[in-house]
Amino acid sequence: PSKVRLVVVSNRGPFVLKETATGVEKQWAVSGLVSAIMPLFRTTPGTWVAWGGRFASEKEAGTTYQEGNLKWVEVPLTRREVELYYDGFANQVMWPLCHHFLEKCVIDPDWWTGYREVNQKFASLTGKVGHDADLIWVHDYHLALVPSFLRQQAFAKKSPKIGLFWHIPFPGPDTWEVVPWSREIIEGLLGADVIAFHVPKYVENFLQCVRAFIDATVLPGGKLIFYQGRVVEVQAIPVGVNQELFSSLGKNPEIREKAELIRQQIGGEKLLLGVERLDYSKGVLDKLSAFERFLEKYPEYHGRVTLLQIAVPTRNGIGAYTELRRRVEALVGRINGRFSTPAWTPVRYFYRSFDQKELAAFYLAADVALVTPLRDGLNLVAAEYVVTKGEKPGVLVLSRLAGIACHLREALLVNPYNPEDMVEAIRQALEMPVEEQRKRLQALQQKLARWTAATWVRSFLKTTLEHRAEYSVAT
Ligand code: UDP
Ligand code: G6P
Repeated sequence: PSKVRLVVVSNRGPFVLKETATGVEKQWAVSGLVSAIMPLFRTTPGTWVAWGGRFASEKEAGTTYQEGNLKWVEVPLTRREVELYYDGFANQVMWPLCHHFLEKCVIDPDWWTGYREVNQKFASLTGKVGHDADLIWVHDYHLALVPSFLRQQAFAKKSPKIGLFWHIPFPGPDTWEVVPWSREIIEGLLGADVIAFHVPKYVENFLQCVRAFIDATVLPGGKLIFYQGRVVEVQAIPVGVNQELFSSLGKNPEIREKAELIRQQIGGEKLLLGVERLDYSKGVLDKLSAFERFLEKYPEYHGRVTLLQIAVPTRNGIGAYTELRRRVEALVGRINGRFSTPAWTPVRYFYRSFDQKELAAFYLAADVALVTPLRDGLNLVAAEYVVTKGEKPGVLVLSRLAGIACHLREALLVNPYNPEDMVEAIRQALEMPVEEQRKRLQALQQKLARWTAATWVRSFLKTTLEHRAEYSVAT
């Protein structure tokens, strides 16, 4: 793929830009999407079209930044555009809908209009910078209409292949029915040659939506859709973990020393770890409640177990997120208020993000990772924990409602909605014999070694580049 002229398009780019007194400051963006895409640009040159997380003035044109192999074109969005498209339609309709939080969906026609306009803006800028591209790779729920907008544009040479990867769950038609514009959204996606999801379940849900809302034919076998004279291919191609990075960080003596230091500083005997953006879909409140219930039920663990929770700030412009932060911090305070002793703080809470080296030290230090989202497209943290551990023992407690759970069957699987299940999983994890921990981790590591971040990229690019032109005349 190194000779392919590639353009990646997503809402969030590699960096978040902050205006400071001394100029513009770049910070790495924290998300599974960025973790998955970045390794691609270490080896392959290409262009990435994405928003920089700041508000632009009406007339601002896209700024371009060169970063090694990567040419990043910043899409300028005004405050109003961000309110309608990002805080509004993307994160208060698409996100809650796809994660099955229907009560959090707000239907507002202005948001939909803003979403369409910003999708159009992304598509035109992409068309300009990628006029000679071979492949345009669009990402995620913010940009569902971009594939069809791109298809309406004239490109310099023959049309590029258009691929779309959807990073979050994709629900079935019963759920999509809540949105008045579901048909337009599915039609927008069908502008792509290849549409891929993490797991077969989301593919199945997508195909059901096509059958329910669109005048299209799903061809026998279920992977090909005949739509407006073209064939669209639908696949499950899950994102993989950055295997090389996390396994080498896990072996790095400096990181191992850091992990040792964390353990000494925390004190106590056992360390539970939570790492996620502070998003309601991640189930942090339910996890904290389960931990509180665990301490009530098993007082013999007082002073012997600590939960270290990393909560990464996210989407602060949205009420549901500020409200969640308030509730999480109140609950952390309540648990610590009830159970702390001069020598022990049951919950250590961090409201900030860490870089991958620091994160690897936390993974190594933790006896148990509690990855218990209420819904998650895939979840990379679970995979990173397993890979970083190497030959060290450790237990992964994993929600059945995370996409990755369909592969990681050797984890301790839990239903995060069931408090008793969570409490008992914590206890079982803490009491699991070291031999069993190693056996389970090894089985999980073998699975993850076969499917890495690089495999994901190769597989997606290959599928999209090989999308056969003759499909258009075959049917
Ligand atoms: N992450 C990070 N620093 C942090 C917390 C998380 O770099 O302090 C990274 C983590 O390594 C992982 C990603 O953020 O690659 C989170 O991806 P995941 O799929 O678990 O969830 P998402 O945030 O995409 O919903
Ligand atoms: C998930 C989504 C990404 C998004 C990320 C962080 O991983 O799939 O598209 O970038 O969350 O959210 P944010 O709103 O900060 O981009």
